[in-house]
Formats: sequence, C-alpha cells, structure tokens
Amino acid sequence: MTVRSTNITTTEHRVAKEARWRANGHRGGVLWFTGLSASGKTTLAFELEQRLFKKGYQVYVLDGDNIRYGLSADLGFSPTDRGENIRRIGEVAALFADAGYIVIPAFISPYRRDRELARQAGGEAFHEIHLTASLEVCEGRDPKGLYKKARRGDIPEFTGISAPYESPGHPELAINTGILSVEESLAILLEYVDHAFAVPAEAISDRAALAP
Ligand code: ADX
Repeated sequence: MTVRSTNITTTEHRVAKEARWRANGHRGGVLWFTGLSASGKTTLAFELEQRLFKKGYQVYVLDGDNIRYGLSADLGFSPTDRGENIRRIGEVAALFADAGYIVIPAFISPYRRDRELARQAGGEAFHEIHLTASLEVCEGRDPKGLYKKARRGDIPEFTGISAPYESPGHPELAINTGILSVEESLAILLEYVDHAFAVPAEAISDRAALAP
C-alpha cells in the first residue's frame, strides 16, 4: 500500500531477532489459519495457543470474531472491507513475529490476494495453514446458525453461500478438519511447530556476535 505520510524515517531495533529467538527458545513467526466458517479455526487456534504456552512458547491468537470487536470494528464483509481487515492483521501479525512471538491469526481470509499480501508482510516466517473441511461439513456443523441464516438470505455476502472462498494453492500445511478430530489435528500442528520454529543452529552458534 502507498505510504501517505511524508517526513518519516525508520529506526533499527538494537535487539537482534536472533537474540529474541534465543531468549524464547524458538523462532518468531506467523501461523496463518484460513478456512470456511466452522472449519475449526478458532477451536484449533486457542487449543494450540494453550498447549504451546504450557510448553514454554511465546504465543498469541488473533481471532477473526474478536478482532472485529476492536481493531476492525469499523469493517464489514464486502471484499474491500475483508481486504482491509486482512491487511491490518497481516501487519499486526508481522509485528508479533518480529517481537519473537508465534502468532496465530485465525481468519476466514477468503481472498488469495489478501493472503498473499499478508504473506509478504510476514516474510519468511509466514506459514499458511489451510483447514480444509468442506462446505457440506461446515454447513452441517453450523455452530452459530449462520449458514442457516445465510441460506434464508438474512446474511449478505456469507462466505461459501453468497461470497467466494478461494482455496490456497500451496499452503505450507493442509489439515482436513472435516475428517480429523481436534486431537489429531493438534498433534499435526504441534509437530509442525516443533520443526518450523526451532532456533536455527547458526543463530545459536553466533551467540557472541549477536548477544543483546
Ligand atoms: S474475513 O473474511 O474478514 O477473514 P473474519 O474471519 O474476520 O472474516 O470473520 C468471520 C466471522 O464473522 C465468522 O466466523 C462469522 O462468525 C462472522 N460473520 C458475520 N458475517 C459474515 C459473513 N458475511 N461472511 C463470513 N463470516 C461472517
């Protein structure tokens, strides 16, 4: 996006990101959950947050419904508003990752382009996790009764019914939450995090050079 301000200059942090990783015992990064409403994003994100925290990880969930009460309270569900929602979250997630956290944004994020921009903001530490439960399964669950309302025409632009969901082409991880249980899905995620967020050997051996 075009930067509107003029007369601004950026300042470098004096704490190296590797120093933060060593202090935390893991890398920072973004685990971006995408999928239909009722595909399991919120359930898995908060369970994963709790399990990782108990293992000593610095971890934080940014959840779609929660964020829409605050940071994105001014936005609805038009393609433009969803784009702005995901842009904000992409930038916030990148800041959390830079601060050394594993951040778990859990948003439908239905448009490929918006997710690509979030990926660019997050850089190499961005991992797209697609929860692939089908529309039939999600509509069958319908925990908030939203699909029923959408079918009646009471919710305009509802993802999967009257608005599109563009599946990721090459997610880092796809979990079929229509078939796997919460525990099975969590086991996959925990193993993934252990590998993807391990502090690289160079960052450990450069201890002296990068000491805070
Ligand atoms: S996103 O498309 O901008 O990524 P987000 O994840 O923030 O969506 O919010 C989705 C949540 O908003 C759903 O879980 C649902 O509870 C609620 N919601 C309300 N209206 C809609 C709609 N038209 N389409 C999808 N979700 C909606």
